[in-house]
Amino acid sequence: MKILIINGPNLNLLGKREPEIYGNRTFEQFLAELQAEFPKIEIDYFQSNHEGALIDRIHEAGFSTDGIILNAGAYTHTSIALADAIAAVPAPVIEVHISNVHQREPFRHHSYLSAKCVGSIVGLGLEGYRLAASYLEVRSEK
Ligand code: DQA
Repeated sequence: MKILIINGPNLNLLGKREPEIYGNRTFEQFLAELQAEFPKIEIDYFQSNHEGALIDRIHEAGFSTDGIILNAGAYTHTSIALADAIAAVPAPVIEVHISNVHQREPFRHHSYLSAKCVGSIVGLGLEGYRLAASYLEVRSEK
């Protein structure tokens, strides 16, 4: 089983960026832990600050993996093109947000992506990615 985690803009700065909101761990530290925890899943990781690069990666992985865990960062609230990319591929996509976007500024309350995703996990910190991986594992065994 193979899944891909995609992080969008500014998430390369996890650990340094607004730690009171996003915590103080880098994604690389967390990813190593996650990979060790799910030995049956090949977990790939991609991060980009560029909308088109995220779309290209969804197209690529969307036909060749068992699922995508996507935190599109601020593009969540702006990108119809990313929503279309999710809808275009057969792989299930789980939307994850580290912070509880609904407790934050009103412009973060709307996601163009949610309706195209299998489900969304928000506000549970990095734990959200773990829960999404666990869901994809269970789903692939059905
Ligand atoms: C985020 C929430 C977004 O509103 C924000 O633009 C991000 C991170 C989150 O993980 O909480 O960059 O997706």
